[in-house]
Parts: sequence; structure tokens; C-alpha cells
Amino acid sequence: MSSKLDQLLASLSTAQQLASELQSELASNIPQSLQAAAAAESIKRAVQPAPFRAFDILFSTFRLPAVRTALDAGWLEAITQADPQTGITAAELASRSKSSPALVIRLMRFLAATAVVEEVGTNTYAPNPLTHFLLIPGWSAGVRHFSSAYPGATAKMPQYLANLKYQDPPGAPHDLFTYANGAPFFTHVSERPKDLDAFDSFMVVARTSLGPTWLDVYPLEKLKVESSDDVLLIDVGGGRGHDLHAFAEKRKSLGLEGKLVLEDRPDVVVNSSAEWREDFGVREHDFFQPQPEECVGAKAYFLKMIMHDWPDSSCIQILSHLRDAMKPGYSRILINDNVLLDRNCSVVSAASDMAMLTVLSGKERTKAEWQELIGKVDGLEIEDFYVMEEGGRGVVEIVRKQ
Ligand SMILES: C[S@@+](CC[C@H](N)C(=O)[O-])C[C@H]1O[C@@H](n2cnc3c(N)ncnc32)[C@H](O)[C@@H]1O
Repeated sequence: MSSKLDQLLASLSTAQQLASELQSELASNIPQSLQAAAAAESIKRAVQPAPFRAFDILFSTFRLPAVRTALDAGWLEAITQADPQTGITAAELASRSKSSPALVIRLMRFLAATAVVEEVGTNTYAPNPLTHFLLIPGWSAGVRHFSSAYPGATAKMPQYLANLKYQDPPGAPHDLFTYANGAPFFTHVSERPKDLDAFDSFMVVARTSLGPTWLDVYPLEKLKVESSDDVLLIDVGGGRGHDLHAFAEKRKSLGLEGKLVLEDRPDVVVNSSAEWREDFGVREHDFFQPQPEECVGAKAYFLKMIMHDWPDSSCIQILSHLRDAMKPGYSRILINDNVLLDRNCSVVSAASDMAMLTVLSGKERTKAEWQELIGKVDGLEIEDFYVMEEGGRGVVEIVRKQ
């Protein structure tokens, strides 16, 4: 070896070879694949010259619109159907979508450079695992949701925060999304059925592709009801009921009895499928209002990705209504949200916090911030934390003080 730099390049080449050989093994082992990705990222940060790292930031702005365009035009779908060895040409993509071949080449060049597709010949593209992944309906809904909900508001973030003199953003109507779009997020999407559908469909997959779920870490045997007529679990703001459906499947093997209830806004629960509705009752309910009589004294009130949507003041209102519905010594609130690390937060968790700031003045919280929030609701206390991945998703278990 002539120098340490040669050694580094040789080691990286070996690592590259290993990574491509282990692709399918890594895909089924998320913790280890994240560990490998973190090591690779730290090497990239150490070796990439600063101007190119700066370009990464500046040019990242085009990634989402380019993917969205290729999805809308049908190019990504056509590529996933192509032979992985020979691919499909830009001319063929252009002919199928009646597009300009030169334009297809420009967009596809960028998507190949950013590894969304493979370039298997000049102007010829084949799918990789990410191309296929982006075609999963919930994830293409995620692309539609992010590209329609966020850019208008993020463009105005610097001015909005300067106007606020860099204080914590207040809730609607003084939040960033309303500042940029003239209406709060949930009002805005309610008036746009395609955007609402994209958001709700993305919610179904948003956290389920990330590895273990709350059902894998929370001791479900704690959720025993006194009688089978009692309410076992209410999914508060549960979307179309995907988590409740998964819980209903899981409880069968655990002998957990009791009723299940889905609560959400009217235009959301209406889209809960008939098949899922066999597992649970459905209620239109605004979580800023008290629980209805039938939902008082449930064993568990489950809130997934709800608290992170809202600033503390709104969370306190939601939690106070649940506290009033809880039976002391029996009921519990289960919050399934991120529990951030105090330092070295992952990009996904830190970016999720930015998304929450943008869309509803919400926030992701550290353990200390969860303690502080729950401490502000009279009569509630945290009993335990359960962690799905360190610094990421977890369950905060809350009981009513006796
Ligand atoms: C981030 S999504 C989470 C959905 C679901 N819990 C999940 O994890 O996939 C937030 C949910 O809160 C619902 N929501 C928003 N405002 C609400 C309100 N005032 N009352 C009840 N549900 C509301 C939305 O319709 C949406 O389904």
C-alpha cells in the first residue's frame, strides 16, 4: 500500500462489494442495516469536500419534485415493469407518455444520479429496490402528500420564524402552514379530497415499514378488561383504522377480550374499509372535545402520531379530556410517538420534528420533554417508556394518579 489514502480506497471497495453481496440480508435486518448506513454516512461526511456537501443541500430541493414528476408521468411504473438487465429506454418512456424524449432524459438523468433508478445503458433505465418501494401505493401517496403539503410552507419558514422573533411557533391560526396557505392543515386537506387521500394513505404505511411496532414492545397482557362488554382499546385519531386492525389480529392469540373503537374526523373514518369495520366500532369524534359516554372508562386510549402533531397547549387539551374519561387504577393512555435522544438524534427523527413544526406547530419530544408535558396535565403521570428503536419510536404509558 503506498499511502493511507490508498488503504482507505481499498477498504471502501471491499465494503462496497460486501454491501452489494449482503443486500437481501440487510433488507431483512433493519437494525444492522441502519448501523451499516450510519457508518457509511459518517465516512461520506469525513471524505466529501465541503463545496460538494453544500451542493447536496442546495440541490436536494429538486429531489422530491423530480420523483413526483416521474411518478405522475408513469415513468417509474414503466421502469419497474422493465427487464432489470436490459431496462427501458428514454425514447420508449417518452412514447408511452407522449412526452418530449429530451425532457425525459433530463429528469431521468437526475433520478439515476440520485439512485432512484439504475442506468443500465445510455438513456436506458432499470429498477432498483427503491424504485419498487416508491411504487407501493402508501409510499407513492407519501410522495404526493409531501410534495403537495410541504414546499409552500417550508419556503416561508425563514420569514415566518423571523416574524416570530424565533420563538416557539403557536398553534393554528398562527402556525406556519396557515401563514403559508391561509388555512390550517386539516382544514386545507379536507377541502382537497386528493390531498386528504394522499395523507391518509401515507399514514397507513408511514411507520409500519420501519421495523417493530408497538405490538412488539408493549406488554399487551396488561390490557385485560373486567368484562367482555367493556371497551378494551380506543384508537384516538386512528385514521382509517390500520393500527386497530393490526391490534385486532394480534389480540386473537392473546385472549384479550373487550370492544375496540376507532375515533377520527368524519371525512377520515368514512373511508375505513368494511372489512376492518368488522373488527371495531367507528366513531366520528373531535379529540378536543370530551369523550362520549360509551368511551368513558376504557382500558386503553391509544394515540399514535397524534401528540407530535400539536404544540404542548393543544396536547394538554387532548390529554385532559382523556384523563377525565379514565378510570383511576385501571385505564391507561398509550402514546406511540418518537422519544428523541438528547444528542446525536437520527436524521429521520430530526427531520420529522421539522415536518411537525411546519405542518401544525407540533414537535417531536425527548424523554425529558414527555415528562414535562405530562407533568403539566393535572392528575396524569408516566408509568413507563417502551422503546422500539433507541432515539426513535416508542410508547409512553400514562396512568391517572389515584
Ligand atoms: C398524523 S395522523 C395519525 C393517524 C394514525 N394515528 C396513524 O398513526 O397512522 C393524525 C390523525 O389525527 C386526526 N385528527 C386531526 N385532528 C383531529 C381532531 N380534532 N379530532 C380527531 N382526529 C383528528 C387526523 O384525521 C389523522 O388521522
